[in-house]
Amino acid sequence: MGRTIRIFDTTLRDGEQSPGCSMNLNEKIEVAKQLEMLKVDIIEAGFAAASPGDAAAIAAIADIVRGSTICSLARCNEKDIDAAWNSIRRAENARIHTFLATSPVHMQYKLKMTPDEVVESVAHNVAYAKKYCDDIEFSAEDACRSDLDFLCRVFETAIKAGATTINIPDTVGYMIPEEYAARIRYLREHTPGIENIVLSCHMHNDLGMAVANSLAGVEAGIDQIECTINGIGERAGNASMEECVMALKTRADIFGIACSIDTTQIYRASRMIQTITGVSVAPTKPIVGANAFAHEAGIHQHGVMENKETYEIMTPESVGIPKNAIVLGKHSGRHAFEERLRELGYTLDQEKLNKTFEKFKALADKKKVIKDRDLEALVGAVPVSG
Ligand code: KIV
Ligand code: ZN
Repeated sequence: MGRTIRIFDTTLRDGEQSPGCSMNLNEKIEVAKQLEMLKVDIIEAGFAAASPGDAAAIAAIADIVRGSTICSLARCNEKDIDAAWNSIRRAENARIHTFLATSPVHMQYKLKMTPDEVVESVAHNVAYAKKYCDDIEFSAEDACRSDLDFLCRVFETAIKAGATTINIPDTVGYMIPEEYAARIRYLREHTPGIENIVLSCHMHNDLGMAVANSLAGVEAGIDQIECTINGIGERAGNASMEECVMALKTRADIFGIACSIDTTQIYRASRMIQTITGVSVAPTKPIVGANAFAHEAGIHQHGVMENKETYEIMTPESVGIPKNAIVLGKHSGRHAFEERLRELGYTLDQEKLNKTFEKFKALADKKKVIKDRDLEALVGAVPVSG
C-alpha cells in the first residue's frame, strides 16, 4: 500500500459539542487513553478558550498521552491561540488548530468582516500561532459554501504564514461526494504551495453523506480524515471514525490506503462513548450497532455457519467484538436453533429436538427476539454434561 491516511479524532471537541455529550475531566482522560490505544494520529482534545474546564482537560491529556499528537482548537485571534498553546505545550507532539469562516453568509452575518479583512486575519493569526509551534492546522469554516477562488487565496495566505495542514470542512453537511472531490481537485490545482501541505477533510452528516464525502475526498487527494467515535458531533454529527476506517480497510482493493488504527479497539471505544455520554447508537449503525454482525434470517444464519463470508464482509473480531451475535427470531432456521442450543450446553435427541423446534417457532411468532433464557425454558431440561 502506497499512501497512508492520517486519522484526526475530534470526539473530544466537535463530538463533545453534540447535545447531551459533554464529558467531565476524568471521562475525557479515559476517552483520550482509548484513542491512544486506537493509535489515532491526532487527538483534538478540546477548545481551550471555550472554558477553564476544557483548557484543564486538554492540559491533562497533553501530560498523559504519548504517541498521538495533541491538538487544541482556537479561533483566529491571539487570546484563543495563547489559550490553545498553554493547554498543549507539554504534549510530546502539539498542534494548534485555528479557523476562520470564508463563506459569504458567515463573513457578512457572523464575522461582519470583508473578504480582505478575513485574509489579513488569517495571515496575522497563523503567523502568530507559528511562533509557538511548527505544527499548525488552518480550517476555512464553511469552506464548501465558499467561493473557490477566494478559498485558494485564503489557503495560499495560510500556507505562506506557516500552516502545515489545510482543512476543507463541510461545516453544514451540504456536499455530495463527486462535488466535494471536484472541489479538492480544484484547490490542489489552483493554490500555490499546496503540494507540500497535508490536506484534511472534516465532514458533517446533515445529509447522511459525511463518510461517503470523506472517502471521495481521499480519492481526490485528501491526506487526513477528521472524524469521531460513533459519528457524534454538532447537529447530525461528524463522519464516523469506525465507518471511515473499516471502509478503507475492507475496500483496500479500491483505496490501497493504509492507516494507523488498531481496529480491534473500535468496539471498546464505541461502548465507552455510549456509556459516558448516555447516547446509544442505533442497532443498525454500521460496524458497532447491535445488529451489525447479527444474522436473523434462517438462510443467512445457515450460510454464516457454513462460511462467514457468505454474509459478512468483515469479521466482528476485527473490530473487537468477540463473537457474531446470532439473533434468534421467527426467521431463524433449524441450523441456527441447534447451534445455539449446543452453545448453551444442550444436546437433544431427535424427537425432543423436533418438539422443541416446533415450540420455538410458535413462541417466535409472538416475540420479536428469542433470548437464551427463553430457549432454556423451552428445553425445560438440564444441560447434558460431557
Ligand atoms: O465544522 C467545522 O467547520 C469545524 C471547524 C472548527 C473545523 O468544526
Ligand atoms: Zn465541525
